[in-house]
Amino acid sequence: MPDEAATLRLGQACAAGAANGTSLHLRGELGAGKTTLVRGLLRGLGYQGRVKSPTYTLIEPYVDLRLNCYHFDFYRLKDRNEWLSSGFREYFNAESLCIVEWPERAGDLLAAPDLDIHLQYRGDARSATPSTHSRAGETWLSALLSDLRSP
Ligand SMILES: Nc1ncnc2c1ncn2[C@@H]1O[C@H](COP(=O)(O)OP(=O)(O)OP(=O)(O)O)[C@@H](O)[C@H]1O
Ligand SMILES: [Mg+2]
Repeated sequence: MPDEAATLRLGQACAAGAANGTSLHLRGELGAGKTTLVRGLLRGLGYQGRVKSPTYTLIEPYVDLRLNCYHFDFYRLKDRNEWLSSGFREYFNAESLCIVEWPERAGDLLAAPDLDIHLQYRGDARSATPSTHSRAGETWLSALLSDLRSP
């Protein structure tokens, strides 16, 4: 992905097969483009407002869309206890799409996601490597790839 527009396009393609009851993990170093991808995904779901990085709030909800979308960023998650007392677990249910930046910070508290996208630096550009962990994730990835191929 040569530039920010390409990351936004990938995010938008993610909206194609996204469904309630699924989760997406976004992995990659600081500045790799995780929030940018979420911005594209939310635009793909019809959201036209500002997408803030949930760096300090840890969660940002988007509930008036086709899906109930929750955007998490666990970079600043202090420890297991903060997660356990936060009630975040309740958001991961059949009625929501949960997108998580820095899932590794929550360790084993998070279930494997349906879809995982690993963003990596390639000089000034980025690469994206998807992997799936469920049938729902496989379906999602095929929808995403065919959306990317469409003009
Ligand atoms: N494919 C790309 N090529 C070059 N720059 C990009 C690309 N995608 C996004 N960027 C730029 O990278 C910068 C950081 O993006 P972003 O905030 O999305 O990263 P992040 O992974 O969410 O970082 P953090 O871990 O701090 O939350 C932004 O300036 C964005 O425009
Ligand atoms: Mg971010």
